Amino acid sequence: MRFLITAGPTREPIDPIRYLSNRSSGKMGYAIAAAALEAGHDVTLISGPVNLDPPHGAQFICVSTGDEMFDAIDRQLRSCDVLVMCAAVADYKPKNISPEKIKKRDTNFSLELIPTRDILASFSKQDRQFLLVGFAAETNDVEENAQKKLRDKNCDLIVANEVSRANSGMESDENEVTILFRNGEKKKISRAPKKNIARELVKIISNMREKCLTKKK
Ligand code: CTP
Repeated sequence: MRFLITAGPTREPIDPIRYLSNRSSGKMGYAIAAAALEAGHDVTLISGPVNLDPPHGAQFICVSTGDEMFDAIDRQLRSCDVLVMCAAVADYKPKNISPEKIKKRDTNFSLELIPTRDILASFSKQDRQFLLVGFAAETNDVEENAQKKLRDKNCDLIVANEVSRANSGMESDENEVTILFRNGEKKKISRAPKKNIARELVKIISNMREKCLTKKK
């Protein structure tokens, strides 16, 4: 099976030295890539800027902005069985990028932001040939918000995680997730190293993809 996995944050430039981004470390996405390789799958990992070495054996594509991530996925997707959108894509970007360093002033300063493209939603067409896995990073009403994303972004399943706790989610080595399926089923994976969560996720995703293929035959 061919897995296309995105990981890490994206960066949206403000000027030549500044950008908008978020705290994503890339650990969850890299762990999923490693677990998929371990299970014998082919893996392409598309990553935003992080301080991690790509797992040995993965095809690795490094990107910075959301648009670069979109283009990289678009080029790889045709031959994929599963797209796992684990990346924390920045939701906004500056309307204008200053070609020169913006100088410090003594007055308030406003930056006009425009929404970035929703990559997951853009690849969620009904007639797609691949399984679409989304992530939901939430600080509150985790399951309700994730359920809404599962529907709105038309994913096959969504992995919800709470990101407000220090020992779980963003930047941490551990995570605790709830997987929500389209038929209303859900599966909780209690707090464990991201490596273990990733192995469990890869098992669930590949079983589900296998079932879809069998149905289509
Ligand atoms: N996502 C995406 N493109 C974006 C924003 C998010 O593809 N511009 C994807 C993420 O990779 C993830 C899912 O959408 O798989 C949900 O991302 P999340 O950050 O949890 O939610 P948002 O859709 O950004 O909504 P909000 O920030 O309001 O929670």
